[in-house]
Amino acid sequence: MPIRDVIASYGRCCVHPAFFDRFYEIFLASDPVIRPMFARTNFAKQKALLREGVSMLLMHLEGKPVGTACLDRIAETHSPKRMNVTARLYELWITSLVKTIKEFDGECTPEVEAEWRRALHAGVHYLMMQGVKAA
Ligand code: HEM
Repeated sequence: MPIRDVIASYGRCCVHPAFFDRFYEIFLASDPVIRPMFARTNFAKQKALLREGVSMLLMHLEGKPVGTACLDRIAETHSPKRMNVTARLYELWITSLVKTIKEFDGECTPEVEAEWRRALHAGVHYLMMQGVKAA
């Protein structure tokens, strides 16, 4: 199952205006430490930033330098020295995103879901490695 199936699935999710609303609803409720981290967040902006961030993660996995450059920047802001996004929080993020994808993408087969998990874990692994270097 190639990355292009994940990209196609992401396209089917992003056409729904409520996709990122639902993601943040699930993610913020997934653990009590998360909501306070977004206490001063402008969610209209944040949803657009995350939409772009996931695209960049997928581009990084396709080997596109623009994706890698964007992830390097996100790794720094989320690093132990800055927002301190831990492995546990990244795991909750992946679980919440996959749950949202399954709600919105009617064509998300178990194979597509498995490929999403593989892709998101690879991207998060990269973010954490770069974040440690930035620290
Ligand atoms: C692959 C996973 C993630 C991606 C792609 C991502 C992407 C982004 C992006 C693009 C921003 C905008 C600021 C910037 O560019 O640095 C941001 C902000 C933020 N992210 Fe993430 N993020 C991820 C995971 C997480 C996780 C797991 C948390 C844990 C709670 C988190 C918490 C935050 C917070 C608190 C902000 C600041 C919001 C504000 O400006 O008020 N992120 N994220």
